Amino acid sequence: MEFVILNTGIEMPLLGTGTNTYGKLERRYDGEITGDTSELASAIELGYRSIDTAISYRNESVIGDAVKQSGLAREEFFITSKLPGTPEYTASREAVEKGIAFSLSQLQVEYIDLYLIHHPWDNLEEIVQVWKVLEEYVDKGVLKAIGVSNFDVEQLQYLLDHARIKPAVNQVKSHAGNWNDEVIDFGRQHGVVGEAWWPLSGVDEAARAQLTEIGERYGKTWAQVTLRYQVQRGVIVIPKSHNSERQAANINLFDFELTDDEMLLIAKL
Ligand SMILES: NC(=O)c1ccc[n+]([C@@H]2O[C@H](COP(=O)([O-])OP(=O)(O)OC[C@H]3O[C@@H](n4cnc5c(N)ncnc54)[C@H](OP(=O)(O)O)[C@@H]3O)[C@@H](O)[C@H]2O)c1
Repeated sequence: MEFVILNTGIEMPLLGTGTNTYGKLERRYDGEITGDTSELASAIELGYRSIDTAISYRNESVIGDAVKQSGLAREEFFITSKLPGTPEYTASREAVEKGIAFSLSQLQVEYIDLYLIHHPWDNLEEIVQVWKVLEEYVDKGVLKAIGVSNFDVEQLQYLLDHARIKPAVNQVKSHAGNWNDEVIDFGRQHGVVGEAWWPLSGVDEAARAQLTEIGERYGKTWAQVTLRYQVQRGVIVIPKSHNSERQAANINLFDFELTDDEMLLIAKL
């Protein structure tokens, strides 16, 4: 595994597992929570230690259960969760505090490694007010790092201008065909690490064919090549699979290196 050091000094694995359909009926995002921990248990067994969840996914308790059942120490894991960008969780200090307390209790942990504002909303001043509460929880050591998700350049700039503790990460949609480079590059210039969601689902057939061709040189699949591209350029990536063979493939990225020419070609897909 390779790591990136976030602005509060903690290390975050460049590769983690997504979980937004784990522990749910029929693997549907809006499916009923079943409490099934087997998907995450498989990922943990295969070596995943970074886990991405959110209050909106409704499965933080499943994540907490799987972490507990693994028998590994809490410190072995890097857990990300997210506060919804909706009034129920953002309208007041109490609302934000309630969200953090809920995540901690569902995850059954004393601290969360990275806590993100899941979505921006129109009122940038309100976002800063929420951010100030998150900063206090960093001071207390309850949140080890804080960041945002789905922020554009303008929203990120505003927060950078008003934050005491700068956002560590901006988690955005990024895949071949839509790398979202403008905001990722802007973040990089300001110490905000890019993190890619939907890294596989978004890749169309034409891009898959070109990635497959590159992968054949290394004995890797199109999915491994596109995930490798992200980690090689320092973007954190959180693919999700319900299949243990694909989970194993998606973490097996650190024994090959794409050439500069291949990186340039993939950047244009
Ligand atoms: N911040 C946000 O707003 C936001 C939004 C969306 C998602 N996320 C996070 O990002 C994570 C990843 O996104 P995602 O789960 O939507 O999509 P994804 O990781 O891009 O793709 C998941 C799909 O790809 C398949 N897959 C996985 N590995 C594969 C491989 N090696 N080869 C071929 N197919 C493969 C999976 O099927 P199988 O299960 O059959 O393998 C699944 O259907 C989420 O789980 C969530 O944690 C965040």
